Amino acid sequence: MLVYAGALVAEALSVNADLNTLMRQMAHVPLTDREGNQMETIRDVAVIVGSLRRDSINRKVANALAELAPAGLKLSIVEIGQLPIYNQDGDDNSPAEWSAFRERIRAADAYLFVTPEHNRSVPAALKNALDVGSRPYGKSAWSGKPGAVVSASPGAVGGFGANHHLRQSLVFLNVPAMAQPEAYIGGADKLFDASGKLVNDGTRKFLQDFMQAYVAWVAANGKS
Ligand code: FNR
Repeated sequence: MLVYAGALVAEALSVNADLNTLMRQMAHVPLTDREGNQMETIRDVAVIVGSLRRDSINRKVANALAELAPAGLKLSIVEIGQLPIYNQDGDDNSPAEWSAFRERIRAADAYLFVTPEHNRSVPAALKNALDVGSRPYGKSAWSGKPGAVVSASPGAVGGFGANHHLRQSLVFLNVPAMAQPEAYIGGADKLFDASGKLVNDGTRKFLQDFMQAYVAWVAANGKS
């Protein structure tokens, strides 16, 4: 029974992998309109939210960014809460959750990290996701794709410590992180209504400008 369940998981993962490959290939096919004019390539952006909290402010920020994204980007949140804690002993026989996550990260064209700060650093769940995606040694799923970092906190400093600790890891992971504009969103608990909608016009304009800079960053640093 266990063997059978394992085979089903393996089959599901391989179907998933094929779909990912197909979607990735499709994402790079230049679209044409009815007259045959070339349209914009759509980039697949994996959004990693550093909070596992049900009512997370950072998830609301990520949703707002997805809504404000320019037409050339398709943002989707890649969940990290299901990932078992990384342990190098699992490199030879990885949990299915690690393998599926690595496959999804590998398939993406770019990354967008939206994270809270925990004790002036990156939340453990996010660090775990970085580690899981980076291994086995020499087979990092992250390498060579552009990224950007947004941090949000109810506090005034806007998660600056987490933002910069994350950037330190991204240097090692070979994920070039957009330098400007920096995004430390302070007082973030006041920016959304009860339904999770962004209700602050200044922040909306800032996030819109951020996404305009990000689409240019991805175009300049992504694989064509
Ligand atoms: C926090 N919080 C926090 N905030 C901050 O600005 N700097 C910090 O160093 C910390 N440290 C910290 C540690 C731990 C363990 C928790 C649980 C929280 C507060 C944090 O910003 C707040 O809970 C946010 O609401 C978390 O973001 P999400 O979960 O709403 O996206």
